[in-house]
Amino acid sequence: MASQAQTDPEVVVVGSCMTDLVSLTARLPNIGETIHGHKFFIGFGGKGANQCIQAARLGAKVSMICKVGKDSFGSDYVENFIKNNVSTDFVTQTGDAATGVASILVNSEGQNTIIIVAGANLLLDSEDLKKATGTIARAKVIVCQLEITPAVSLEALKVAHNCGVKTIFNPAPAAPDLDPRFYIYSDVFCCNESEAEILTGFPVRCPEDAGTAGSVLLERGCRLVIVTLGAEGCVVLSAEEITPKHIPTRKVKAVDTTGAGDSFVGALAFYMARYPDLSLEEMIKRSNSIASVSVLAAGTQASYPFKQDLPQDLF
Ligand code: ATP
Ligand code: RIB
Repeated sequence: MASQAQTDPEVVVVGSCMTDLVSLTARLPNIGETIHGHKFFIGFGGKGANQCIQAARLGAKVSMICKVGKDSFGSDYVENFIKNNVSTDFVTQTGDAATGVASILVNSEGQNTIIIVAGANLLLDSEDLKKATGTIARAKVIVCQLEITPAVSLEALKVAHNCGVKTIFNPAPAAPDLDPRFYIYSDVFCCNESEAEILTGFPVRCPEDAGTAGSVLLERGCRLVIVTLGAEGCVVLSAEEITPKHIPTRKVKAVDTTGAGDSFVGALAFYMARYPDLSLEEMIKRSNSIASVSVLAAGTQASYPFKQDLPQDLF
C-alpha cells in the first residue's frame, strides 16, 4: 500500500475554474462598437486551474481545491482535471451557482482583454478549506490567486504559512486595497505589470519600473517578489537580494498570450516542489522558458506544454 507521503500532493492550488469563451479578432473593439471576429472556441481556464494544470503537465503531483457548478461546464471541468492527473478530492459541484466563465477577446498581436463572471468560484468557503487542511499542511507548495473570495485565499495562505509550506501568491485580478496580510503570508508574490501598477500606484512599463514597484511590494513583507513583463521575461527581488534583477526570456512570435502568467506560476510551483535545491534564479529562468512555449498557440490550457514536449534539460 502507498504511504501517505507517496499519495499526498506536492502542489496544492486553492483557486478558480472558468470556462473560457474566446473570440479571435484583428483588433479589440472600441466602446460602443461592434466588429467581426474570425474564430470562436471554448476552452478550460481560470487562473487557479491553469496554474494547477501547468504544474501537473510538468509532472508534479497536484490537487485542486475549487468549486464549479452542477452544470455541463462544471462536469466537463471535473473530467478535464482527471485527464490531466489532477486530484479532484477537493473539487466540489454546487447547484447554487453556475460554473465561472471568462469572456476573452484576443487580437492579431496575441494580446487580450478578459471579463470574468466568477459564479460558483465565489461559493468556495472556509468549510471547504477545512476539509483540505491536512492535505495543505503536508504539501510542499501552495498556490493562491484572487478569482475566489479573497478571505478564502488569505485563509489558505495562512494555514500553509503556519505549517511551513511554501506559498506562492498571484494577486490577480488585482485591487488597490489588498489586505496587508497577503504580503506577510507570501513566500513568493508574483504579479504582472498591470497588477504591480494597481497595487503600488507606480507606472510599470519596463524592467526598471518593475524593480521600483517590486521594491514597494517587498517592503510590505513578502520574501520574494516577481513582476512578469510578457516578452521581456520578469524582474525578481527578495529580502536577501533587494537589488532588482531582470531575467529576460527568449524571443518568440506570440500567437496568444492568454494564461502565460499562469503557465509561469504553475511552472514555478513545480520547480519549488520538485527541485527545491535549484537556485531561485534558475527556477525562474526555466519558468520563463515554459511560459514562452505557452504563447505559441491559441487558447489557455490548450497551449500549455507537457514535460515530454519540452527540452529535457529543463528537468
Ligand atoms: P495572463 O494574465 O494572460 O496570464 P500575464 O500578463 O499575467 O498573462 P505576462 O507578464 O504577459 O503574464 O507573461 C508571463 C510570462 O510569460 C513572462 O514572464 C514570460 O516568461 C512569458 N511570456 C509572456 N509573453 C511572452 C512573449 N511574447 N514571448 C516570450 N515569453 C512570453
Ligand atoms: O490568466 C488567464 C485566465 O484569466 C483565463 O483562463 C481566464 O479564465 C481568466 O481567469
